[in-house]
Parts: sequence; structure tokens; C-alpha cells
Amino acid sequence: PRVAVVFGGRSSEHAISCVTAANVLQAIDRDKYDVVPVGITTSGHWVLESGDPDRLSITDGKLPEVDVTAAPVLFGADRELVVSEPDQVPSTLGEVDVVFPLLHGPWGEDGTLQGLLEMSDIRYVGSGVLSSAVGMDKHYMKVVFAAAGLEVGPYVVIRDRDWLRDPDACRAAVVELGFPVFVKPARGGSSLGISKVSSVDELDAAIAEARAHDPKVIVEASVKNPREIEVGVLGGLNGGLPEASVCGEIAISGGGHDFYDFETKYLPEGEEYTALSVPAELPDEVVAEIRAKALTAFDAIEAEGLARVDFFLDADGRVIINEINTMPGFTPTSMFPRLWAASGLDYPALVDRLLTLAQT
Ligand code: DAL
Ligand code: MG
Repeated sequence: PRVAVVFGGRSSEHAISCVTAANVLQAIDRDKYDVVPVGITTSGHWVLESGDPDRLSITDGKLPEVDVTAAPVLFGADRELVVSEPDQVPSTLGEVDVVFPLLHGPWGEDGTLQGLLEMSDIRYVGSGVLSSAVGMDKHYMKVVFAAAGLEVGPYVVIRDRDWLRDPDACRAAVVELGFPVFVKPARGGSSLGISKVSSVDELDAAIAEARAHDPKVIVEASVKNPREIEVGVLGGLNGGLPEASVCGEIAISGGGHDFYDFETKYLPEGEEYTALSVPAELPDEVVAEIRAKALTAFDAIEAEGLARVDFFLDADGRVIINEINTMPGFTPTSMFPRLWAASGLDYPALVDRLLTLAQT
């Protein structure tokens, strides 16, 4: 089969998508799959990428980007990928059997690309339109999780119109939550645009920062002394039930990082402050509870293929769901592939499983 690996995109997670793609491109079995790397530039142009892993990595702190000089590509009729250089006769790369949309954030992880692929009748890895859209929006995912009986923490949503009409009411609602709070773009990822805010004086700057990523902002109450636990979920093969991985734990300490921010997630300078434990050291019954809740969350948004579900475990042993990611990172420092490796599925097997799932 021919697989188009689509990456980059218009969101602020463009670079992380490139790093994810570099790793996945190297892991796909070339005896089994004919691979076409397709980049989406930061301005939304689709190009036929080389997929060169060296260029698509974080080197000396420099974030990678899709090659803007590469030839433009488009999906034509009959699922054919067509190269159309200006002033040249378009040529076809043949039919694509499956798309691996390795995009993080809006315009890729949020159902928009999924909708385009549905319209073109092209199979793809991962969640469909609705679940991708719900999984992208930190507000709506909480509405759905709460309806499914999962505990979500207190939060306030500040939509564009709320902030423009009555910022005082927005500030008052946040004060009600109690500080510190986390101010986040509702539809973002990789911790970009997120601030931890300890007093009302810092609030406006944090809201402005989040609004630079998304006009819709969510403010979340902080959980006291939380342990951060993440679980991977994979769709079941042949119509089988989804499966949960082992639990992993993230601990951040020192370096002035008081949460799992962009630097501790991806940059070498953040590495020494980040400890990932897989599997997490937790009592069996807590592991069972968290894994069951991860599957509930996956089902609640009707996710397909894959997701990573992130929880807080508070000092009283309460399991609070933080969020779901329908296209979790696959970078060398990412939790999702580590969770599966510890659950018996190594990186190439995981990628193969996802491509198989998308075609069945
Ligand atoms: N949004 C990033 C890529 C993640 O969830 O891993
Ligand atoms: Mg996320």
C-alpha cells in the first residue's frame, strides 16, 4: 500500500509535527509500504517533502520547518496525489491508500483535515471529524468527560466576546477559582501559550498570551500537589475493544519550570528537569482505575486509532482528567511511544499497528 505521511501545518505545533514525522517516517516498514512525505507549510501550502530526518529534528535548539521550496502537491480525483509545479503538466504519484495525519493542533488534529479526507474518500489514521474537534478543544472535552462521569477540575471559559465585552466579569470568575490557575488557549498543544498565574495582577498578560494562540481561552484551577499520569490508548484490531497502555508519570522539578512546559517537553535544556517514569510507581488498584478512565475518555469522545489521556492524581488519591490528545507526539522524548514500548509494542510495531488499524 501507499501511505502519505502528512505533517507540519499551520498551528504553533508545526515544528513538533515535523519532529514527530521524522521519527515515524524512519519507523515505517518500507518493504510493506510505499511512503510519500507530504509537508504543509506554516502558511498552509501542501508540498512534496523529502522527509529528511536530519532536517526535521530539533538541532541546537533550532526548530524545524517544512521545506517551502518543495514542489506543490494536491489530492486529485480517485485519491491520487498530484504534483503540480507551476508551468508544468501536473503529474500523478498514484493512488494513496492511507494518510497518516501527523499534525498537532488546529488545522490537522482538530477534524479539519479529517473532514477533507472524508470528502475525498481517503482512509486515515486516527480519530474522525467530531472526536478530533472535541479532543482539540479543552472546554468541550471537559463537557463530554463530565457527562461520561469522569471528574474534571474547576475551570472558566473566556470566549472572545466575553473578554471584549466584559473583562471585569472574566477576571472575577477567575478569582473565584482561587490562585494559582493555568491560563491556556482552548485549542492549542505542546503547552504553547500556557501560563501559570499566581495573582490577579498577572492575569491580563496571561490571557493576552493565550489569546495570541486562540481567541477562546480556558482558565483551570490548579490541583494541589498533583502527580501527572498519562496513558496511551490504541484502537482494537478487527473491531476489537480499545486497549490501554501502562501508566507513565511525569515529574518536573527545578530550573524555574513549575509545569510540563515546551522546554521540558522538547528542548535539551529542559531535559535535566524532566523525569518520565514508565511504568509509573502506583498501587495496582490506582493503575486499574486510571487505565479504565482512559478508556472511558477515549470512548466518551468516540476516538479511533490512538490517543493519549492525561490525568492528575491529587494528594487525596482523586483521579482528575486533564485532557485527551488525539494525535499525541511521537518525538524521541514523547510519552506515547514510551508507554507502548513498556506495554510490549515497540516503535515500528506501534506505527505498523496504526497503519493497519486505518485500513481495516
Ligand atoms: N500536543 C502534543 C504533541 C502532545 O500531546 O504530545
Ligand atoms: Mg493537548
